[in-house]
Amino acid sequence: MAFTRRTTHVAPATAESIAAAAACLRAGGLVAMPTETVYGLAADATSDAAVAGIYAAKGRPTFNPLIAHVLDVAAARRQGAFTPEADKLAEAFWPGPLTLVAPAAPSCRVSLLARAGLDTLAIRVPAHETARALIEAAQTPLVAPSANRSGRVSPTTAAHVLADLEGRVDLILDSGPSRHGLESTIVACLVQGPTLLRPGAIAREAIEGVLQAPLAVRDKATRAPNAPGQLQSHYAPRARVRTEATDVESDEAALDFAGALAESAAAARLDLSPNGDLVEAASNLFAYLRALDETGAPRIAAAPVPHRGLGAAINDRLKRAAASREA
Ligand code: TXA
Ligand code: MG
Repeated sequence: MAFTRRTTHVAPATAESIAAAAACLRAGGLVAMPTETVYGLAADATSDAAVAGIYAAKGRPTFNPLIAHVLDVAAARRQGAFTPEADKLAEAFWPGPLTLVAPAAPSCRVSLLARAGLDTLAIRVPAHETARALIEAAQTPLVAPSANRSGRVSPTTAAHVLADLEGRVDLILDSGPSRHGLESTIVACLVQGPTLLRPGAIAREAIEGVLQAPLAVRDKATRAPNAPGQLQSHYAPRARVRTEATDVESDEAALDFAGALAESAAAARLDLSPNGDLVEAASNLFAYLRALDETGAPRIAAAPVPHRGLGAAINDRLKRAAASREA
């Protein structure tokens, strides 16, 4: 799909720039907004034309549906039909980095294009004050995928958004680096019961603690619901990524964790968390992948990261970054 060439403005998030952004959204424009997870590319969720603009700007396949962002649980319930488990999770984690997939409600106003024609809907209530102010001012649900070109690493700063989408979006609101640095955790609450579709900024253990039951995991063999965006090769930097590295080869830059590769002679080395803190590592992951890519190294060696807590989502993104793009 061809994109419309636009003049991209970047503005610090202030009352004035948020009001201008809301006017732009109501007129069908595209605005990159900070959220607590990553920067999102927002459009009016009820407008097919605006939503089509998102797919074109990102170069995103239209079979990959978008997340609707609303202000509170009441607004979410107008769009989706919540099971008792969904209610429990919404109560525990909203506003915050959890996305729930629910059957679309009869009163759902989110464009079918944004839902990729599905009869379900992904919804989240963000916590970031700029995102919240923007939804409130726009007076409509906003669909917002991560504000990167399709297949690239998600942006955690306004500069990352500009690098990927300059000339393709109308306005970028800058509120500094994203707090979590990883996308929201996605849980489907459909007839099958709660199923983890994407590990993310809320650890699976925390969700299971609230449900007091283990989450099912998406499994093609059991035909559990799928997050269509979970393509094998995703979150890909230009450099090839080698995971679970215990050494660094001469053409590699090092993505370290807790100093495991500190002794290596790597030309460039960034440590996700010298103290082995998974929350800190998550918040640095995408920015460091981009920074190592910019050194021009053809390959990146990534140190092992523990799989517990947020480590599950970090390992998921590293695995996708490493997946061959030739397939
Ligand atoms: O943290 C986040 O979730 C960020 C911020 C901007 O909110 N957004 C984000 O959106 O990561 P995106 O588009 O990059 O990822 C959305 C994921 C995709 O994998 C998509 O396939 C899945 O959500 N998804 C959307 N609607 C779905 C549905 N009805 N059923 C299953 N998966 C769905
Ligand atoms: Mg994305």
